[in-house]
Amino acid sequence: MPKNRCFACGKDNPEGLHLHFHYNSIGRSVECSVKISAKYQGATGFAHGGIIATLLDEAMAKVNGMGGVRAVTVKLNITYRKMVPVWRKLQLHGRRTKRSGRKLYLRSELRDPDGVVLAEASGLFLTVLPAS
Ligand SMILES: CC(C)(COP(=O)(O)OP(=O)(O)OC[C@H]1O[C@@H](n2cnc3c(N)ncnc32)[C@H](O)[C@@H]1OP(=O)(O)O)[C@@H](O)C(=O)NCCC(=O)NCCS
Repeated sequence: MPKNRCFACGKDNPEGLHLHFHYNSIGRSVECSVKISAKYQGATGFAHGGIIATLLDEAMAKVNGMGGVRAVTVKLNITYRKMVPVWRKLQLHGRRTKRSGRKLYLRSELRDPDGVVLAEASGLFLTVLPAS
């Protein structure tokens, strides 16, 4: 197996987030439990917005990847609703809402254990050919 050094999900990247997703093929969606390490803080006790963006982007990318679709992010729109605490078990969800030719429209959310949405995103992805 080739090494997976993806910063978000790669088991072969010692500096990465090591996110582990579960795929639902019927709903074209993914789920992932995540605890954000204190080293990714912005304000004390809370996650940096860039890391939150990474999580939300990855949740959408995984819907494509685990569904066998090779695509890249071309547009990412994030809404930060509440401060995201570090070291708390959170739930990350991603799903595809629409496909139109090469264009894939997805959404993702980061929720606390009570189901409150802390941050959410919509994304546009474009399919790409595998590199030869
Ligand atoms: C994805 C990529 C290869 C697309 O290039 P391309 O194949 O030449 O695609 P085009 O620019 O012709 O765009 C195809 C369609 O998507 C649309 N599109 C492309 N980028 C878009 C954007 N940011 N927002 C909205 N629409 C976009 C185009 O308008 C076009 O629509 P149309 O077919 O209705 O006219 C190129 O944009 C790219 O490599 N981007 C960087 C991706 C990346 O690094 N993402 C982060 C890591 S995953």
